[in-house]
Parts: sequence; C-alpha cells; structure tokens
Amino acid sequence: MTTVLAIDQGTSGTKAMVVDPAGAVRAVSELPVRPRYLPGGGVEQDPAALLESVLASGRAAVAEAGLPIDCVSLANQGETVLAWDPRTGHPLSEAIVWQDRRSAGICAGLAEWAELIAERTGLVLDPYFSAPKLRWLRDHRGTEGVVTTSDSWLLHQLTGEFVTDTTTASRSLLTDLGTGTWDPELLELFGLADEALPRIAACDEIVGETRAFGAPTPMGGLVVDQQAALLAQRCLAPAEAKCTFGTGAFLLANMGTVPTRSSAGLAASVAWRVRGELTYCFDGQVPTAASAVRWLQDLGLLRDASELDRTAAADPAGVLCVPALAGLSAPWWAPEASAALTGMTLSTGPEHVVRAVLDGIAAQVAELADCAARDLGEPLRRLRVDGGLTRSGVLMQAVADLLQTRVEVYPSAHATALGAAGFARAAAQPGLPLADAVIGWEPITSYTPRMGADAAGEFRAHWRHALQNASISRE
Ligand code: G3P
Repeated sequence: MTTVLAIDQGTSGTKAMVVDPAGAVRAVSELPVRPRYLPGGGVEQDPAALLESVLASGRAAVAEAGLPIDCVSLANQGETVLAWDPRTGHPLSEAIVWQDRRSAGICAGLAEWAELIAERTGLVLDPYFSAPKLRWLRDHRGTEGVVTTSDSWLLHQLTGEFVTDTTTASRSLLTDLGTGTWDPELLELFGLADEALPRIAACDEIVGETRAFGAPTPMGGLVVDQQAALLAQRCLAPAEAKCTFGTGAFLLANMGTVPTRSSAGLAASVAWRVRGELTYCFDGQVPTAASAVRWLQDLGLLRDASELDRTAAADPAGVLCVPALAGLSAPWWAPEASAALTGMTLSTGPEHVVRAVLDGIAAQVAELADCAARDLGEPLRRLRVDGGLTRSGVLMQAVADLLQTRVEVYPSAHATALGAAGFARAAAQPGLPLADAVIGWEPITSYTPRMGADAAGEFRAHWRHALQNASISRE
C-alpha cells in the first residue's frame, strides 16, 4: 500500500499532491511559474524558479497531509530543456520551453533527413520536440555541462541520479520508437553524439532516493505530464483517447503495444513502459489553449479565466480565430504560423473575440480528433477531457459540437498528478497490474453535441479557410 507525493511540474505551474493508498487526495499545494515570451518565438523559464516551485509545493503538501510518504513521482513538461553543470547541479542556461520556436532554422537545415527521422522516431522534425532545442542551446549557450530535458535536471537535484524516462526520451527526436533507446545515428544528425546522456528509466522504476521532502524516500513514476493524464483517464486500451486542456491542449490516443507511425500528421510516442512492455500513443497538440486565454487577459479582453463563460458571446457573430499564437503543430507542423482573427466589423466586441478564441481551440481539437480517428481506423466514440479549461462549459460544448462526439469531463482538477501517482504505485508495488494502480472514475459532467452535423461541418470549413491566413501570414 503506497502513499505517494505526486509532483506535476507543468508549464504554468507546479502542483504537488499527497495521494493515500485508497487513491484519495489528502493534500494539494500549487505554485504558479510564469514563462517569459520573447520576440522571435522565444519562450523561457527560470530553472531556479522551477526547482523552487517543486520543493516548496512538495514540502507544503507533505506538511499538510501529515502522512509518511512511500514514494515521490514526477510528471514533467516533456520537451523543455536546459544546460546545467553535472558537478554542481547549477543551471548554465534558462529553461527553453516546449513552445519555443527559435530552433526552427535547425529543423529547416535537417529537412533532407525528415523522413528518416519520422520513420525512426514516430515524430515530426519540428522545434516543438527536444533535440532541435538541445542543438540550439549548444549553438547559442556554449559547450559547458550537459544539455537535457528539465526532468533530468530536477531529478538530479532531488536524487543525484542522471536519468530521464522512456516517455520523455520518446519526445526528443533522438530515440528509436520501437526500442525506446537512444539512437546513435539521430544523435549524430543533431550534432549531439558527444553529449553525456541520461539513463532512460521505465515509468514503473524506482530511480533513486530523495531527502528533499523529509525522510529519505524512493523516487519512481517518472513520466511526461500528458502520458500521466492518459493513465489517470484510464485510456488503457487501444483507441481510448483523452484531451488535457492546460497551457496547450493535448489529445492522446492509446495505440496499443505495436508502434505504428501516424499517416494523418500526428506524432507517435511512448505512452508508458511498464512491466517491461512499451505501450504507444498517437498525440496531437494545440500549442496555445490556456496560453491563448491568458493572452486575452493580457490584452484586457477578459478579466479572469473564471469569467470565460460569462464573457464569451453566445454567437461569435462571424468572427473566426485560429489561435496559433505559438505556431501550429499537428497535423500542419508550421512553427512559423501566426494567429489569425478574421470576420470583424465595427460591431465586433470583446465578447465575440473571446468566443472566437474558444471556438478556435475547439476547432483545432476537432481536427486532431479526426486525425486520431484516421490513424486508429475508427471514430472516437467519446473524448475524455481534463485540465483547467474544462471548467468552461462554452469551450466543452464547442468541442462536443465540432467533434460531433460525447465529451466526458474528468471529476478531478488533478488528472496529471493522479496519473503520476498511478505510475509511482506501479513502481512501489511490482506485482500490481497497471489497471489496478490507477483509480476508477465517473465523469463529473458530460457534453453531447447540440449542433447538427451540417452546421458543424460548415463551421469547420470556414475555420479551415481562416487557417490558411494563419499559415501564410508568417513572421
Ligand atoms: O508537450 C508539452 C506539454 O506536455 C505541456 O503540458 O500541462 O504544461 O501545458 P502543460
């Protein structure tokens, strides 16, 4: 029986949660971390602030729960990278966030290898993934120390180990999808062949011990945040899909244990390695979801995210938005695309723009769901959703309408941390089947389509037209 301190180190904040052996959340502590947005597509975070948020939220949750902790797990942002000194642990660069597009030129320079890279890794040659950013760090921040994803640095701080996990490594463009191991040819292509590489651990592995939260405690249950939510949502069988509405929105569909490449423009990644077996997923991304809502706030068009539904117009009155504020990922892979807002007149008000942004996020998710259905060879029968933006009924209804599919909302605001806790339980109890390591759930709300199929099709056709503006109005 395992009590877990589950830490979800995300793009906009860190959440630490104590989950007892029955799966009940006994304490939660959350601290915001704010990225810096730079001209030219740069998105950075202060590594010290990331670490401080992990330590402070973890310690606060442990103090509040007052329970002995058996295992500490960590979910990470996936593709955020930094340079650091392995002797002292000191950061040698800012953290380059997954949304950062400054390595687009590196990808362009490797274009002739794009097909080989896609076949080997399941991913698309795009600055979203880690390897181009690691190369960018070497080109722009010097050759000192090691360059890794943020999880490896945090884990080094917490345990002294030099380690990452299979899901995070599978987001790097440097691993073979079939084996989940570093690929020498890919390392060579990105000019990273001489780098020291962290060991790749399974998601159900104890990787070391940490004293950061009190008594020495094993650490295990390492995973990318999206894959953690996939587990929490119990997408355990092929074709089961979820979408997490966080900083971005990420739709992942379990594809089973045979690594297939997407023919619809999605990425293919490791969902988890548990009990020695790799399970895979298709995944598609909306790079700016809560980021787009925060942008509305920064512009003064929205007071607070909690007021989304009160502010959004019932009808966008012809305004259409492609919220490509940090480029477009699957299935377009246009990092240089910018957002488009069309159809405005003198009578357009903030409420129409807010509504158009929500519809734009929903339309992007609908495109991703279509791609997943094509790859899976069957339509998604339902979409399980979680994350902060699921509190917007307007957005969730728009998703159900445009997908023409039932949308089921996860009952807890903590899906990612609960998924990480599930992997920690699997790590601490080697005999436990994965399906028993994660608690069951019933949707707190569900949305069924209210819009007719014809109207949904018509909206999506208009939106795709607006998309052309986003893809051509390049920086
Ligand atoms: O790929 C990036 C993604 O995993 C980050 O998730 O929750 O920080 O928006 P989140």
